[in-house]
Amino acid sequence: MEKKELLYEGKAKKLYKTDEDGVLWVEYLDQATALNGAKKDAVSGKGALNNQITSLIFDRLKDEGIPSHFIEKISKTEQLVKFVSIIPLEVVVRNTAAGSFSKRLAIPEGTSLAFPIVEFYFKEDRLDDPFINDDHVRVLSIATTEEIQEIKALAKRVNDALRTLFQKAEIRLIDFKIEVGRDTDGGILLADEISPDTCRLWDMKTQEHLDKDIYRRDLGDLVPVYQEVLQRLAD
Ligand code: TMP
Repeated sequence: MEKKELLYEGKAKKLYKTDEDGVLWVEYLDQATALNGAKKDAVSGKGALNNQITSLIFDRLKDEGIPSHFIEKISKTEQLVKFVSIIPLEVVVRNTAAGSFSKRLAIPEGTSLAFPIVEFYFKEDRLDDPFINDDHVRVLSIATTEEIQEIKALAKRVNDALRTLFQKAEIRLIDFKIEVGRDTDGGILLADEISPDTCRLWDMKTQEHLDKDIYRRDLGDLVPVYQEVLQRLAD
């Protein structure tokens, strides 16, 4: 497989074409961002950790029969994925109140929710990714009614699988964000990454943050924390 021209550069990843049709080459960067890119720092070793954690998680999700874009990890910082047309939604699943949910509804962080909830945010940097509902998704032609149901069902399956995976690592899955895309046949696939950048993970015993809130909230160095997450998942 040969890496070809750069297709897209995101906040923490570069995407290249390859010599094989429908296969993309992803490079994870040593870059941390928060507040929609307003806070930005180079963090040595972060790219390798996120690539390894995401690859391990997507491999486990594949074992559970969850359809995704992931093909394989090819180096510490790189992986191959199937081309998908990304649906411009941030799909957030919450098991426990935290972050923007706690702020918006004045529910203290750490309050368990009676059942997992799925939220949609419109992925549009210039609007600051606003919170939207199913009707907005339909009226903006982001996805059809059937696709919305499929995306929600997929998000809940991912939540069930991740909760089991993290529980074994003595980690509480508070919430997470996924992205989904359409393959060339229009099928919905899980895409992007699942890592401590995109999840809230709390140590089951100490309730300490094991995720990007360390960086967002200036709580310390995220590299040893991400290393701990990788180590626990791999054990
Ligand atoms: P929130 O509480 O800030 O809405 O975040 C909910 C979850 O989604 C949390 O695990 C962090 C993740 N997330 C992202 O991965 N990217 C984003 O741009 C946002 C807003 C949240």
